[in-house]
Amino acid sequence: MLDIVLEQFPAGGTWVELGSWTGRSAAYCVVELINRDKLGPFYCVDSWKGEEAIAYDTDTVQDLENIFRQNVKPVLGHITMLTMMSWHAAADFKDNSVDFCYVDAGHSYESVTNDLEAWWPKMRLGSLFGGDDYTKGYPGVQQAVWDFFGPLNIKVCRSGRCWLVTKPFDNNSSI
Ligand SMILES: C[S@@+](CC[C@H](N)C(=O)[O-])C[C@H]1O[C@@H](n2cnc3c(N)ncnc32)[C@H](O)[C@@H]1O
Repeated sequence: MLDIVLEQFPAGGTWVELGSWTGRSAAYCVVELINRDKLGPFYCVDSWKGEEAIAYDTDTVQDLENIFRQNVKPVLGHITMLTMMSWHAAADFKDNSVDFCYVDAGHSYESVTNDLEAWWPKMRLGSLFGGDDYTKGYPGVQQAVWDFFGPLNIKVCRSGRCWLVTKPFDNNSSI
């Protein structure tokens, strides 16, 4: 799914990653955006504390932020790290300003719902919005995505383990 987004992403657009862990997806996307001459503002939002829904290795969680910094070192200067809860970070962004948001922070129903509610208004009309772990193993992710986009009549596409939607140009939803 990230490759689909990278292909369609507008040059200089704003990219937000919710949940960055040790930096694998962030490093990949920043390098790919540089290679395509498209890199604009790139935000990584993470509490750097892990989460209850996933059994993380304890040593990694204790040093998570440093491991992230080390792993993305060559491109760290291109990344703005926001250390906070993913849905709180949305308050720092204007409505209709984000060109892609990758939802991969909390994996519970409540957490994903909070992220969808907080970030949907921030997405630019026509932009892509998606997330990881749209699988049976994470029923909270699937249900939250269905419950949020179903009433909005927005088609959710599956791409591998991910979900992806396009914000319609005629979107008039304020949630
Ligand atoms: C699945 S990992 C992200 C993996 C990363 N996107 C990758 O592919 O390499 C989830 C991350 O989200 C963070 N996290 C979980 N819930 C969060 C929340 N509500 N706000 C901010 N960060 C959160 C955890 O600290 C963890 O680093």
